[in-house]
Amino acid sequence: MKFFIDTANLDHIREAQQLGVLDGVTTNPSLMAKEGITGRDNILKHYVDICNIVDGDVSAEVVSTDFDGMVKEGEELAGLHEQIVVKVPMIKEGVKALKYFSDKGIRTNCTLVFSPGQALLAAKAGATYVSPFIGRLDDVSTDGLNLIGEIRLIYDNYGFETQILAASVRHTMHVIDCAKLGSDVMTGPLSAIEGLLKHPLTDIGLEKFLADYRKGNQ
Ligand code: E4P
Repeated sequence: MKFFIDTANLDHIREAQQLGVLDGVTTNPSLMAKEGITGRDNILKHYVDICNIVDGDVSAEVVSTDFDGMVKEGEELAGLHEQIVVKVPMIKEGVKALKYFSDKGIRTNCTLVFSPGQALLAAKAGATYVSPFIGRLDDVSTDGLNLIGEIRLIYDNYGFETQILAASVRHTMHVIDCAKLGSDVMTGPLSAIEGLLKHPLTDIGLEKFLADYRKGNQ
């Protein structure tokens, strides 16, 4: 399973990259605003800065909601750097834009997906990635992980090549459960990635090994 980090914070991206397990980055307009990145030029520059830190795919989201606007924006974003993947919302105009980009060889990430039907449409339109938001489904008492399983089944039934990018991942158990369900990618905060390495028995064991070493090597 590929690990993407879901942030526009350059320090967090660098930290995950240095850990050596990072395969890409996802951003969205809220994450950019959280970092204080505003104004078209600054936003475009920030995407390039992110691409220069990581080796993998970097999702950059369009903010237009009409087909022509999405195409114009998406082509500009895709032209910024070869690592850019154009993030398109799951709306009617978005599906048309996914098909357009797919025909042009521009890679896409279909965002704001909350149902198997939406994921099926995204795959039919040729999306590179589909992003089911599991945390936001959990927030409204709906099993987000169940959606990952349903999409996996549908895609495998027909051999769709669209990659399942589990999004809105909030914690380590989401990561582990997505891996069990065969999600191709997960995107989450740095805490969900770093949390995977924590276990008290590791800390206790290491402390004992080092103490025993010190006893015999004064
Ligand atoms: C997906 O690409 C989104 O950026 C993201 O995962 C949303 O997560 P949130 O629900 O924690 O805001």
